[in-house]
Amino acid sequence: MSHPLIYAANWKMQVDPGQARAFAAAFLDGFVPSPGDSYWFFPSAVSLEAAARALAGCPAVAVGAQDVHWEPQGAFTGATSVPLARGAGATLVLVGHSERRHVFGETDGDTARKVRAALGGGLDPLLCVGELLEEREAGTTEAVVLRQLDAGLDGLARDQLARVTVAYEPVWAIGTGKTATPGDAAAVHRAIRGALAGLGHPTPKVLYGGSVNLANAAQLLAEPELDGVLVGGASLDPAGWRKIVAGG
Ligand code: 13P
Repeated sequence: MSHPLIYAANWKMQVDPGQARAFAAAFLDGFVPSPGDSYWFFPSAVSLEAAARALAGCPAVAVGAQDVHWEPQGAFTGATSVPLARGAGATLVLVGHSERRHVFGETDGDTARKVRAALGGGLDPLLCVGELLEEREAGTTEAVVLRQLDAGLDGLARDQLARVTVAYEPVWAIGTGKTATPGDAAAVHRAIRGALAGLGHPTPKVLYGGSVNLANAAQLLAEPELDGVLVGGASLDPAGWRKIVAGG
């Protein structure tokens, strides 16, 4: 039997509140969670409450924000705070997604502030790390990923670390149709797991993300280093997502 898995859906800038309700109804219809597995959804901020309400019937499901500001409130037009996300029903939050880092210019320092704000305000962070193509080609994948990890998590207490999950998402694999091989992903996961253990994390869990779909999910998840997947495009269709979370 495989170990418990986390299936995380990142809807990015898609799925409005009505579509989130329709997705939840279709996804939950006759759905039987696998014992031990968890199903996480990251809708946009405007769809957070609709998704959280519509998915609330299933205890194995949790909903999270895609990003938060580190300040709890104030004049930050367009931003979502931890208390606002919590009020909308989030219990989780993505921090440091590659699109935040590389499209919006988020720094390692920003991710560190966001991780701390999330933990302090009652959201469990899913910290995303991953290298650019040129970094992989230069042989610096591990160094980049471990730097991002250290920067995000340094100085956290063990009970705080215990609430952090990590997603390894190679930037060159996101939305490109290119996936890391299970072996390549496993090598990076092993390094991340070791670093997390070194920081004092009692139960490190590492998800893989980057062009995961129905055709490759089962093969990737057969690799024991993967504790789950974080999926963009292939999580948008409820029937397809049901097949992926059912094991392909
Ligand atoms: P894709 O699955 O669309 O490649 O996106 C991956 C991702 O960024 C999930 O956070």
